[in-house]
Amino acid sequence: MRALMLSLALLLTANVPSFAADVVNGETLAKRWCASCHLVSEDQRKGSDLVPSFASIASRPDFDEDKLAAFLLEPHPKMESMALSRIETRNIAAFIAEQKRR
Ligand code: HEC
Repeated sequence: MRALMLSLALLLTANVPSFAADVVNGETLAKRWCASCHLVSEDQRKGSDLVPSFASIASRPDFDEDKLAAFLLEPHPKMESMALSRIETRNIAAFIAEQKRR
């Protein structure tokens, strides 16, 4: 029970990007693979209106960095399959989490 409480406490404070993820690498990957459709960061001006920006994705109430990383491993119907590695998806998810509007 103690261990459970502890991991719960850790989860609640885990609003900071995971230690393993590399946000800078995530940004590089996002700009290479995602920027043709998504607005990946604030300094990008052009994207498609039909595609959610990363800032809006990160600002969703149910946003979850781990779920996002898992989502990116699956082929997405409207997204070309990108064949990202597990580490790459974690890095991109961490980068997207950083885009949350403050
Ligand atoms: C070819 C265009 C295209 C590319 C490239 C692309 N996306 Fe998408 N993405 C879309 C579209 C279109 C949607 C909206 C799909 C929908 O509403 O079903 C979407 C939706 C999403 C969503 C939201 C899913 C949801 O829950 O609504 C995420 C997260 C996402 N993309 C992440 C990424 C990431 C990360 C990359 C780069 C690794 C990427 N996308 C590259 C077109 C693209």
